[in-house]
Amino acid sequence: MRMYDLIMKKRDGGVLSAEEIRFMIDGYVKGEIPDYQMSAMCMAIWFRGMTDEETGELTMCMAASGDQMDLSGIEGIKVDKHSTGGVGDKTTLVLAPIVAACGGRVAKMSGRGLGHTGGTLDKLESIPGLSVNIMPEDFIRQVNAIGLCVAGQTGNLVPADKKLYALRDVTATVDSVPLIAASIMSKKLASGSDAIVLDVKTGSGAFMKTPEDSILLAQKMVAIGAHAGRRTIALITDMDTPLGHYVGNALEVQEAAATLKGEGPADLTEVCLILAANMLELSGKGSYEDCLAMAKQAVADGSAFQKLHALVRAQGGDDRVLDDPALFGTAAYVEELKAPASGYVQHIDTEGCGIAAAMLGAGREKKEDSIDMLAGLYLAKKEGDPVQEGETLARLYTNEKERMEGAMEKLLSCYRIGAEKPALMPLILAKVTEDGVTRYDV
Ligand code: URA
Repeated sequence: MRMYDLIMKKRDGGVLSAEEIRFMIDGYVKGEIPDYQMSAMCMAIWFRGMTDEETGELTMCMAASGDQMDLSGIEGIKVDKHSTGGVGDKTTLVLAPIVAACGGRVAKMSGRGLGHTGGTLDKLESIPGLSVNIMPEDFIRQVNAIGLCVAGQTGNLVPADKKLYALRDVTATVDSVPLIAASIMSKKLASGSDAIVLDVKTGSGAFMKTPEDSILLAQKMVAIGAHAGRRTIALITDMDTPLGHYVGNALEVQEAAATLKGEGPADLTEVCLILAANMLELSGKGSYEDCLAMAKQAVADGSAFQKLHALVRAQGGDDRVLDDPALFGTAAYVEELKAPASGYVQHIDTEGCGIAAAMLGAGREKKEDSIDMLAGLYLAKKEGDPVQEGETLARLYTNEKERMEGAMEKLLSCYRIGAEKPALMPLILAKVTEDGVTRYDV
């Protein structure tokens, strides 16, 4: 078999067999197939797509390319959640404690931020002392003890995705539905949970910009999960505007803590409760309505907030910051962006906000870059809010003065203010299960 022939086959619209996909992934991971041939293949896939069978086979081969987590030492149904990435997306920090407080088991491997999107590991590491480097046996022990653990990848999980993702990132082939589906689901399958709730973001801050594309991606991932014997559902959620008011690591932890105390913004609270209820339902904790009521109760009675405390303590962090955010400290430079005109905030370019936060030091351009944990944004005005000229639209935080001006300019360009009050997208646009799609936005 020759990679050249496989590239030509896909380029001409052919369907790769299971054997051909296995040859390609094995060869690529072993270094026998060079990056330039894999790049050509990714581009051919980008143009020609893949059938469900091809996407499923690609996912399985990728999942099997390295270690696979054995979570059988954890009692009960292990449930995972994956977000396709967004701006201000601190949902894991809120929903994992809610689910654990309701008796669910969350054995979660999270990622770091890259480009305009944030990552849960970076957010957690803004808590003094907290470690996300946890050995597999400690990971299992912690989930058995307190119901949740949020860690970085341990072992050599899905090396095929590490290589492929880096390649796609520099060859303009990230936004391909089969490639994204295989990338995400290979990691979910290898990390061992029994049930998976996918939070597929849609809009200007997401990879998928339209609900239709997001639904298509969700359908592919749900089908792969079901085929692999994992209970999988997907929610399509709004990422046309940042989630909550804060973007940036320590700032987002503070907002997550406030949300668990019942003092969070309405959009973040609602999305987290709905995702948590779906996780609990997949864990067999009752009907969706019962699970939603349980999730709300866990916030109301403080047990979910106590679980966040337990998580932070178990991973070596100083949980006093959750009650006293002043212990995080504040960035040395804080400036306000003022509204240039009166009217309504009609739109916020969400990817642009993520870029502005990264420019302040909250994110990375390259994997090796370090992060300013206190940098970020407070978006005082969100879509649909009325605003007067000169009123504060947002606050910017950084420890490096020279970063302020460019970020301020970038953030200003993200706001569109106009006379008309805009129609807002619903927060949850659709739910995708094996049985079909339920849309809430039509
Ligand atoms: N997140 C992933 O893990 N992979 C992709 O391809 C896109 C988003």
